[in-house]
Amino acid sequence: MTASAACTLDEAGLDLLFRRARTHDRWSERDVTDATLRQVYDLMRWGPTSANGCPARIAFLRTRAARERLRPALLPGNVDKTMSAPVTAIVGMDLRFYERLPLLHPHDPNIRRILESSPVLAEHTARLSAALQGAYLIIAARALGLDCGPLQGFDASAVDREFFSGREIRSLFLCNLGHGDRTHVRPRAARLPFEDACELL
Ligand SMILES: Cc1cc2nc3c(=O)[nH]c(=O)nc-3n(C[C@H](O)[C@H](O)[C@H](O)COP(=O)(O)O)c2cc1C
Repeated sequence: MTASAACTLDEAGLDLLFRRARTHDRWSERDVTDATLRQVYDLMRWGPTSANGCPARIAFLRTRAARERLRPALLPGNVDKTMSAPVTAIVGMDLRFYERLPLLHPHDPNIRRILESSPVLAEHTARLSAALQGAYLIIAARALGLDCGPLQGFDASAVDREFFSGREIRSLFLCNLGHGDRTHVRPRAARLPFEDACELL
């Protein structure tokens, strides 16, 4: 079998990642181990990013004390769903991600110079690729049997001061992780049909 030979997920796999996967805000007591969080990262890190820059930086808050530091930054509607989750991932972007390009993109040293001299381009590149990596995190977590609850309702500046002080890391979104309680998930909302969201040109 060649590398490009057809190899696809079966129906159960597609359900696990997409069709039956839901956003959760109630969680079972079941713990998420540090080993599982490492597995999540070891999968998500293979997703593509611009110039292989890998700008996402993730703080996994997996103790009560760590999540208490997050509490003041949460919008009121997001407090309970976050404080009750076994783990909350803060997905951030490193604005100085280009410093790692000698390792990550060794064949083209010019890119580092270009990004270093243009903070606007560097931020745009970091934001786009780190957000993509956040999506890879969700898919990786689901693939490993975890449920996710992504959130953007929080004070990002407060989170950055509390968790990323002294570093050029900016938080993008939060993702609660654990084993969700499906009985509390509301009916699935629609998605746009192909015709509304896509064009075939
Ligand atoms: C980037 C992002 C930000 C979100 N922010 C919030 C939020 O602040 N509060 C909240 O309750 N849900 C939030 N959600 C959850 C979405 O509303 C939810 O994923 C969407 O309605 C799809 O739900 P489903 O996966 O169950 O179909 C967010 C989701 C994403 C991906």
